[in-house]
Amino acid sequence: MGLFLRKTIQAVTEAKHDGPNLKRHLNAFHLTSIGIGAIIGAGIFLITGQAAAQFAGPSIVISFLIAALICILAGLCYAELSALIPSSGGSYAYAYVALGEFPAWIVGWTITAQCLFSASTVAVGWSSYFVSLCRDFGLLFPDFLTQAPFIYSPVTGWAASGSLINLPAILLIAVIGFLISVGTRTAANFTNVMVFIKLGAVLLFILMGLGHIHPENWVPFIPENQGVFGSFGWSGILRGSGLVFFAYMGFDTVSTLAQDTINPQRNLPRGILASLGICTIAYVVMALVLTGVVSYTLLNVPDPMAVALHALGPKFFWLSTVIEVAILAAFAGVVLVQLLGQTRIFYAMGQDGLIPKSLSRIHPKTSTPIIGSVVSALISAVVAGLFSVEVLGQLTVIATLLLYALVCFGVWILRKTHAHEPRPFKVPFVPWIPFAGMAACLGQMAFFPLSTWVQLAGWLIVGVILYFVYGRHHSRLRGSSR
Ligand code: ALA
Repeated sequence: MGLFLRKTIQAVTEAKHDGPNLKRHLNAFHLTSIGIGAIIGAGIFLITGQAAAQFAGPSIVISFLIAALICILAGLCYAELSALIPSSGGSYAYAYVALGEFPAWIVGWTITAQCLFSASTVAVGWSSYFVSLCRDFGLLFPDFLTQAPFIYSPVTGWAASGSLINLPAILLIAVIGFLISVGTRTAANFTNVMVFIKLGAVLLFILMGLGHIHPENWVPFIPENQGVFGSFGWSGILRGSGLVFFAYMGFDTVSTLAQDTINPQRNLPRGILASLGICTIAYVVMALVLTGVVSYTLLNVPDPMAVALHALGPKFFWLSTVIEVAILAAFAGVVLVQLLGQTRIFYAMGQDGLIPKSLSRIHPKTSTPIIGSVVSALISAVVAGLFSVEVLGQLTVIATLLLYALVCFGVWILRKTHAHEPRPFKVPFVPWIPFAGMAACLGQMAFFPLSTWVQLAGWLIVGVILYFVYGRHHSRLRGSSR
């Protein structure tokens, strides 16, 4: 059936594409910045406080370290593969070489879930912060225009919230969609500014908080388990790490920019590992400060940073507004990088004929895949307009874990099938590190509720149907091998 037809590394990296190609103008600094742009967002500013309050207490710091460890294992694997196979398809292209066309389709489809739904999730988070900031200044929006019409709870199932649409989330995605359509450089410059602002917010928060830590808030560092699995104690730390994993997602987006990058073999591993390293340090310190300034029991709110900032005293109230504005910038940066990553996946899959080629066509003036950008933004905006953070966030994380597990597996396979290819960056201790990465991702997936597994299965089934209805009949590789 040819489902497992593989591409060669040369075919993936030296492909002569139809029409103009992407321009190479990103260096290691840009990539690190784009990586941080994709990573720091809703995870640290929203989820940390809630995860500390509900599951782990101050030991959310350990949850962050566990999630970082999983991401660093996967990040090392991404670094090796992105240097070995520098292609804008990222893990989709690695899978095409390592496992064949159908698994590559599954990987591309899973990345699509990751990029589009995480952009939607963060846009929904952005909308809540935006509405609350406007409210602080006396500007009120009606609920029916700012909330998801469809909500889901494991207890009651799906329900209508009475709202019509989440308009701010849609508008944010529309603006970002425009930015990525007009040029990668414009988008990269925008990201640099956002990264600067959000790192400023993180630093400001840490510096202000350090002088106001009450060490008694860290005692007990690991609150005793409440008798329920995942509710504090070590199981709570593990449950917390599944939640704060969202905070690290995005570093892999860097690998999709291989064809926009100068000397990708050298710069991609640097960009991936540097952005991951910087964010890990920032998150651990931030989590320590957050849980040191206020008791973790007060942090189950949509704006945990503001709770901590208010605890510093009335003279720091201005800081809360500054940081909320920076948080809006942080979220916008994440949405941008995720959508940018999605256009590169469409680009790669379109060039391979697995999705309509128009999604990958590069506009001669902007050097960007305009139709791919518009379609990505459109899907993401519709989803953001209709669903809540809870629905979207869990699906995004489980899809990402599946993806990282497959990438780790790919490193091991390619060491066997392409043992003598030059590898500018090598994962140490193969097969142990890729295996540990794979086991950690699959282990983390096991902590998700059945409803999230059902959503993932539904997404994959739609993907398989699309492949058999369209992709396999238009595949360039299958066409050329007949
Ligand atoms: N890591 C990104 C965030 O925290 C997805 O928003």
